[in-house]
Amino acid sequence: MNQAMWRKPVLQENVARLTRYGIKILGPDSGEQACGEVGQGRLLEPEVLFDYIAAFFKSTPIDAQSLAGLRFLISAGPTREPLDPVRFISNRSSGKMGFALAIAASRLGADVTLITGPVSLRVPSNMRVIHVETAQQMYDAVIAEAISHQIYIGAAAVADYTPVTVAPRKIKKQADSSSIVLQKTKDILAAVAGLTEHRPFTVGFAAETHELEQYAQAKLIEKNADMIAANHVGDGIGGFDSEYNALTVFWRDKAKLCQTHFSMADKLEIAKQLIELIYQQWQDNKNECST
Ligand code: C5P
Repeated sequence: MNQAMWRKPVLQENVARLTRYGIKILGPDSGEQACGEVGQGRLLEPEVLFDYIAAFFKSTPIDAQSLAGLRFLISAGPTREPLDPVRFISNRSSGKMGFALAIAASRLGADVTLITGPVSLRVPSNMRVIHVETAQQMYDAVIAEAISHQIYIGAAAVADYTPVTVAPRKIKKQADSSSIVLQKTKDILAAVAGLTEHRPFTVGFAAETHELEQYAQAKLIEKNADMIAANHVGDGIGGFDSEYNALTVFWRDKAKLCQTHFSMADKLEIAKQLIELIYQQWQDNKNECST
């Protein structure tokens, strides 16, 4: 449909109501429209629809309580790095993927601790939720919890840099240009993967705008993670703030580099598939791969 039609409040209210009833809505896609306008309202590409429907009906290899007793620690959302009492540096992460992973693991019977940066999502029930704001606070919370969990999934978009100084008062507008000196934050994923005792099985995310596979594989090795789930961000559907995602997951099987692809589906479905793969790998690392 036309982008203006799609955005009409009455239509959006009806879509929201259907979603509340549990109806899955596929799309719309955005792009050029038959009338010449550009925006949301396009039918999803047939192969995306096909992948979604195939994933939806795929049977689950593990059943409802398979993860009972297993403790998952999941980090989600963005961090906020303050510049002064009213301003901060952050990113576009909505927290949806991390929350979907927490919900999927919990539905399969796991005990879940969710550490989240500031998001506007409903806090899921049946799990411990720890709220943090900065990268340092997320680091402290994750490190404190990691050793008492068997699996850590770092799905948060942690700021890579933070301002060296935080002004105690609101910075006033003066010169025509201004600069901020930043310093690197601690890498939480690498710190968890580097634990020498009670190290959890460690899964990271790679959100890249280009050369996804190379960066994801490098991350697996440099950060000593057990698994990296990579997704494209910045173009089309999927990635930040979307209800949908597609992932390519990399892990090592002895010397071999393994990978599998989860086609575009809603984040809860993708989360379920990733949790199942993590569980198989965590069990005994026996999952053979052909690549
Ligand atoms: O290096 P990059 O930020 O692209 O890596 C992404 C992965 O590393 C994600 O799993 C993210 O949660 C994690 N990360 C982290 N601590 C940081 C930066 C990223 O744990 N300071």
